[in-house]
Amino acid sequence: MSVQRHPVATSSSFDSLAIVPLDRALVARLRGSYEAVRLHELRLAEIFYAKLFAAAPQVRSLFKSDTASQAAKLMAALDTVVKNFERPQENAAMLAELGRRHASYGATPEHYDIVVRLLVESMGEVLGANAAAANLNEWRTALSLIARQMIRGSGQPMNEKPPHA
Ligand code: HEM
Repeated sequence: MSVQRHPVATSSSFDSLAIVPLDRALVARLRGSYEAVRLHELRLAEIFYAKLFAAAPQVRSLFKSDTASQAAKLMAALDTVVKNFERPQENAAMLAELGRRHASYGATPEHYDIVVRLLVESMGEVLGANAAAANLNEWRTALSLIARQMIRGSGQPMNEKPPHA
């Protein structure tokens, strides 16, 4: 069985990463489902922040800007990750920096677990009947890897559990 690389995977050595071929079929599926979700940006934001503030009311006070502009920034960051699937080094640098800023906003590793879970749930809700076809589990894994890179960038200890399967 040939080994293929997840587009959000990183390694301490990018040389070793480069010799493992990128899983292009996965890239295409992730891009396809992201495009479908992206069509519902406003509804996704509404559902996601409602869920987040219900599940973790203590994080509400960390957000200083309104949820619409916050959601636009979150989606813009995900747009960049998706655009740069073929350039993991650029994503890694961007996510490490984003993670550093998040430590100063008060985000903890536990918050990332909640955000990943609720983002995937919200994606499922906006896609409705099309959710099954969108391979949401693949987005769960991708978002878990994004979260890991942000947490690593923040210098906080990692929850040493594998990304959600
Ligand atoms: C998938 C993971 C996440 C992504 C891609 C993401 C993305 C972003 C982006 C792009 C911004 C705009 C500001 C900046 O660029 O520094 C932002 C702000 C922020 N994020 Fe996140 N975020 C994520 C996870 C989290 C988590 C786990 C928390 C914890 C509760 C969080 C809380 C915040 C807060 C408090 C702000 C500042 C809001 C403000 O200025 O009012 N984020 N996020």
